[in-house]
Amino acid sequence: MGIDARELRNCLGRFATGVTVVACRTDDGIHGVTVNAFSAVSLDPPLVLVSVDRRSRACRHLEDTPFAVNVLPETGQDLALHFAGRPQRDLDVDWDDEGPAPRLAGCVAFFACSPWARYDGGDHVIYLGKIEEFAGGNGDPLVFHGGRFRGLGEGLAGSPWLDSLDCPSGAGWFSALSTR
Ligand SMILES: Cc1cc2nc3c(=O)[nH]c(=O)nc-3n(C[C@H](O)[C@H](O)[C@H](O)COP(=O)(O)O)c2cc1C
Repeated sequence: MGIDARELRNCLGRFATGVTVVACRTDDGIHGVTVNAFSAVSLDPPLVLVSVDRRSRACRHLEDTPFAVNVLPETGQDLALHFAGRPQRDLDVDWDDEGPAPRLAGCVAFFACSPWARYDGGDHVIYLGKIEEFAGGNGDPLVFHGGRFRGLGEGLAGSPWLDSLDCPSGAGWFSALSTR
């Protein structure tokens, strides 16, 4: 039985993600692209991945180039659209271009990466980056789910899982797994 691409997209969209702008320097200036296919990969060495459509300009720019993953704040919907091929008129895009890769003002997290590896991801290319610098900001992230932008909403009752990768006081998801 063949896979229906539309149904598959809808089903994949049930997985809620954050929204990032992946940015790198090019001969023509900074190129940014909206990406939700971003994931932590490894703590040692510190690696993350982004999966980028082969047809995009970003895919060409990212070959062997340092890049930054800028996690958008809840207020960043216009930025998400802007870097997804829908330019927003009068949008103030404020880059800090001093560090290893371009940082977007107001992002809730920033990871500047050197290129680590590239893998065939079918119609996408999977880029692994080694984190060279990172910073966390304040505020809630923008969320993408079911083809819509959302806010984070209220946390659920219950204690936080201290071994999660996200928890600064925990040992980390990967070490929790390896000691089992
Ligand atoms: C919320 C959202 C998430 C997206 N995630 C991805 C992604 O993970 N990978 C990707 O290649 N494109 C993704 N896109 C589409 C690109 O942002 C879009 O194709 C962009 O115009 C490519 O720009 P470029 O050709 O200038 O590089 C996403 C778009 C939106 C709105």
